[in-house]
Amino acid sequence: MAPSLSFKLLMFLVPYFVMALGSQTPSSETVPKADQLTFSHYEKTCPNMEAIVHKKVAKWIKEDYTLAASLIRLHFHDCAVRGCDASILLNHNDSERRAKGSETLRGFEVIDKIKEEMEKKCPKTVSCADILTAVARDATVKIGGPFWEVPYGRKDGLVSLAKEADLVPMGHENITHLIEFFESIDLNLLDLVVLSGSHTIGRSTCGSIQQRLYNHKGNGKPDPTIDPRYLNYLRRKCRWASEYVQLDATTPTKFDSMYYTNLQRKMGLLSTDQLLYSDSRTAPIVAALASQPDLFYQQFAVSMVNLGNAQVLTGDEGEIRTNCNFVNA
Ligand code: HEM
Ligand SMILES: *[C@@H]1O[C@H](CO)[C@@H](O)[C@H](O)[C@H]1NC(C)=O
Ligand SMILES: *[C@@H]1O[C@H](CO)[C@@H](O)[C@H](O)[C@H]1NC(C)=O
Repeated sequence: MAPSLSFKLLMFLVPYFVMALGSQTPSSETVPKADQLTFSHYEKTCPNMEAIVHKKVAKWIKEDYTLAASLIRLHFHDCAVRGCDASILLNHNDSERRAKGSETLRGFEVIDKIKEEMEKKCPKTVSCADILTAVARDATVKIGGPFWEVPYGRKDGLVSLAKEADLVPMGHENITHLIEFFESIDLNLLDLVVLSGSHTIGRSTCGSIQQRLYNHKGNGKPDPTIDPRYLNYLRRKCRWASEYVQLDATTPTKFDSMYYTNLQRKMGLLSTDQLLYSDSRTAPIVAALASQPDLFYQQFAVSMVNLGNAQVLTGDEGEIRTNCNFVNA
């Protein structure tokens, strides 16, 4: 690519980065909770914390590559409700985990196994929320994504309500709704577009796109923003709502920026993916990320830190669960 073009796109993005910085600036009265997280949190109390996580994640993903995507999504669904507090892991009647919108979440057993080991090595020390955050980072690295340092010190929440989990976007929302939802967890427009890039890997049940294929907006026709050949493929692939289809149509198992290129070719899977390229607020960011893979790679790390910092509990708040499935007795 001509350097001048790349430079122009980078300059175009400057306002977004400034915006991203602005949203992290502490106001004069309150120090954001995320500032109480530190890289050295377990340095003395559980120096092997990251090694334990890393080893287990590597083992599980080696056995089942598809778990990597599921673990990254699990972290998002945790942070999207009551912040990153492991509320998604609580397994009781009417908890987030039991919600309709959580039905296709996977990877809980990985977290359980890590926690089991953690309780042997460093009892009552490492929170489930911190484990989940570290797991998402390691899963990303395992599939060829970027590395980032994870700040630690999150506490585990005591509350988990199914009806709140059903507010997490499921793929049928409009962009205004997505922007507002992300803002509600302190993530901005750039984070929205960059984190949606997680859909460069993983899969979706066909149920999430059935309306797009046959009855878009209830008009009995397919969504006109789907490429005709891709539409054909999807209709053949999605005979049953329970079947799976790759989120990234061209490089489904590779962590890369093809997700954005697909959107430019009308090959986004979810309606909410494709809309990122039709909305004037997000389309320029999609174009920039499609043409600059390095930018995606670097900003993904930044936005994942932002996600992991969302509305965390720290200090005296919450607790450190001994079993991630239940609050302590
Ligand atoms: C912008 C709003 C988002 C919407 C509407 C959305 C929607 C979805 C849907 C509908 C699925 C497929 C579920 C199924 O039917 O099985 C999915 C999968 C996935 N999502 Fe998102 N998502 C969003 C944001 C994110 C974010 C922020 C992340 C991570 C940081 C993420 C990571 C993933 C991953 C990795 C998968 C694949 C999971 C697997 O293969 O098991 N998503 N998402
Ligand atoms: C959970 O819900 C089921 C079905 O509504 C009910 O039968 C069961 O008793 C509940 N369990 C607890 C522990 O509340
Ligand atoms: C977008 O979604 C929001 C909330 O679901 C709704 O209130 C609004 O009317 C929608 N906007 C458009 C343009 O459809």
